[in-house]
Amino acid sequence: YPAQDTLQGQHWVITAGPTREQIDPVRFLSNNSSGKMGFALAKAAARLGAKVTLVSGPVSLEAPPAVNLIKVKSAQDMLDSVMEHISDARVFIGCAAVADYRPAEFIAQKIKKNTQELHVDFVKNPDILQTVAELKQRPFCVGFAAETQKLEHYAKDKLKRKNLDMICANNVANGKIGFDSDENAVTVFFKNDRTEVLQQCCKHKIASQLVYLIQK
Ligand code: PMT
Repeated sequence: YPAQDTLQGQHWVITAGPTREQIDPVRFLSNNSSGKMGFALAKAAARLGAKVTLVSGPVSLEAPPAVNLIKVKSAQDMLDSVMEHISDARVFIGCAAVADYRPAEFIAQKIKKNTQELHVDFVKNPDILQTVAELKQRPFCVGFAAETQKLEHYAKDKLKRKNLDMICANNVANGKIGFDSDENAVTVFFKNDRTEVLQQCCKHKIASQLVYLIQK
């Protein structure tokens, strides 16, 4: 096991949870992320002495000890907060399930249900991970890939396309792992073609193993 001060002096920025894209004052678009995986990563990094900034969408979890938790709602809020804290970061982990799209416009009054069909236009959200990976002075960039098929193919595509150092692929078609469960199973692909398989276990153990792989 790594020593307790292994990450002393390092700043890690981690995103967690879903984002919430508001349609009108009472409705939003979101997803099933509970934040458990991202919070476990924050806890594991802080336990090894890192200064951790955890930027999370709406979840019902307590901040882990010694972690600076910043609560946000939308993808744009999450991007703004990450960019505010990233300049001295050694590591960035994008564990959040960021909504890929948001409504093209926010309807200021509650939409009335007086039509048979409702059409809402969506526009693409900014990609937080890619934005960080494009910085001149960039941290070590770790992504997650939530896939329901062709795990390796899509994960490797994201690793390359977003110019990451490492990507953690989880198969979210398996209801026992991934979104909202206490356990996960992850295949890690590195930039240099190395692969590590982390067998199914609780998210806290997966998080410790991932932090170990990142700092090694
Ligand atoms: O929160 P839990 O319930 O514990 O569940 C954990 C998890 C399944 C959410 C987590 O393990 C996970 O897989 N997170 C990433 C989910 C996801 O959105 O994957 P993606 O394949 O759509 O995105 C790829 C990567 O780009 C991710 O690192 C994501 O954070 C990042 N991204 C995506 C879109 C966007 N606009 N900005 C981003 O930064």
